[in-house]
Amino acid sequence: MKKSYEQFIARQELLKKQYDDTYYQKQHQRGKLTARERILLLFDEDTFEETDAYAPPATSSFGKSVKAFGDGVITGFGKVNGRLVYAYSQDFNVLGGSLGATHAAKIAKIQDMALKTGSPMVGLIDSGGARIQEGISSLDGYASIFKRNVLSSGVIPQISVIMGPAAGGAVYSPALTDFIFMTADTSYMFVTGPNVVKEVLNETVSTEDLGGASVHASKSGVADFVYSDDENTILGVKKLLSYLPSNNMENPPLTEPAEAATRDDEQLRNIVPEDPDKPYDVKEVVRLIVDNGDFLEISENHAANIFTAFARIDGRVVGIVANQPKVMAGTLDTHSSVKGARFINICDAFNIPIVTLVDVPGFLPGTDQEHEGIIRHGAKLLYAYTFANVPKITIILRKAYGGAYIVMNSKGIGGDFSFAWPTAEIAVMGPDGAIAILFRKELNEAEDPALLKKELTDKYREEVTNPYIADEKGYIDEVIDPAVTKQKIASSLKALERKIELRPKRKHGNLPL
Ligand code: HXC
Repeated sequence: MKKSYEQFIARQELLKKQYDDTYYQKQHQRGKLTARERILLLFDEDTFEETDAYAPPATSSFGKSVKAFGDGVITGFGKVNGRLVYAYSQDFNVLGGSLGATHAAKIAKIQDMALKTGSPMVGLIDSGGARIQEGISSLDGYASIFKRNVLSSGVIPQISVIMGPAAGGAVYSPALTDFIFMTADTSYMFVTGPNVVKEVLNETVSTEDLGGASVHASKSGVADFVYSDDENTILGVKKLLSYLPSNNMENPPLTEPAEAATRDDEQLRNIVPEDPDKPYDVKEVVRLIVDNGDFLEISENHAANIFTAFARIDGRVVGIVANQPKVMAGTLDTHSSVKGARFINICDAFNIPIVTLVDVPGFLPGTDQEHEGIIRHGAKLLYAYTFANVPKITIILRKAYGGAYIVMNSKGIGGDFSFAWPTAEIAVMGPDGAIAILFRKELNEAEDPALLKKELTDKYREEVTNPYIADEKGYIDEVIDPAVTKQKIASSLKALERKIELRPKRKHGNLPL
């Protein structure tokens, strides 16, 4: 008994030795935490349990093998915010965190466990990609991970956190997951790196400019969240998890609200400017209607003409989608349509009610947009809203024109409750366009065209766009005092608590891609 116990202890000591001071220093010098520090930071204190810690790398005929335990990845499970989560953390100190057969099998094993137990899966990625010396085995390893990403999609939340390199086909596991975090300055993602770009296109570009966090958070929209360093990135992951259910069969966790939703908030009456062409920040509205003014914005710097965020209203998690009049007048373009559609799909998959704040003058016109495929991309938003069968509540703050009115969760496509502020303007188009089409002849012949235009504009607002017409015809449920917006949303959420809306049986719909 004693001998076997000594053996057991000796083995543990060997593993401890692997994580000595130099192990930590190497990674700290790169401005990064180690794989072990990261995974311990993710989990609630003393809850992390490691799996397959002693798995050795596969032997390779092409030299460059190491005698490291774990094969460059730490895998396991524990509690985050008190709930079970599975995670892996790639170890750049072992063969550059590259993915060999054992490394891949360890990840696949916990992906299976996460799916079986209905628990979120988090990947902390810091890797040189497929392990070159293991050849086909490492490619097949990636394939096994991708397959599990797809099978888990819409069943358990999957989160990828890029904290170092993610290059080549390795970017496709993150791309198949629900959310991508990146750490500023130390992470990058690309399908082909700067060297290949130089070789093929004779273009010189830095790693950061090609696939750094800021590029992916703004231009490409690949990264949903960017934080300044490893610690803050992991805190961001924990905050995101607090809004999500563990799987698609559960609702997101309820929180006890700090204050009742029944309080009037008169500030809401003063946000929308008198002049309908003046912009304002829709986030001011959001702050006043969500619990504690707190929300978690997704893709803040990409397609900022649409705002997407998780928040809580009266303790219930909601997804908020809002046109942002401050950016491109809140018009819908290709990027904002795709951003909105993706967010709605995620909310729908994970039983998160959607609250939509509308102030949209229409789809962005122009050759660029038409040629970029606004028809195809706009259809994604329309499809996503229509298909989603979670509770859907709309507040029309100001403009709701044309196709964009329909798309932004109108009752016609399945919105459950629709409210409008007295400032709402609902019509086929804005007064300028409408009057130019309907009264061109009269305006051409008028003695004072400006005066006639003003008169017609006032009449148009009075007779066509005002929200009371929509209210009387039942296209909205009520014109409300902006001050009671939060109460209205809270009572609607309650009224929709047991909503069931079944869809026809089919293999799956054909989302316009
Ligand atoms: C084996 C690798 C490796 C890899 C890095 N290392 N990448 N070993 N396979 N893919 C090893 C290095 O040999 C080195 O070992 C250690 O990791 C650290 O790497 P360095 O190059 O010293 O670090 P750094 O200068 O920081 O550069 C990091 C790097 C670079 C940019 C990631 O290593 C690199 O370009 N690696 C190759 C990236 C790549 O092209 N991967 C394949 C992508 S294609 P020693 O022993 O010296 O410490 C792919 C296909 C996926 O992944 C398929 C899915 C369909």
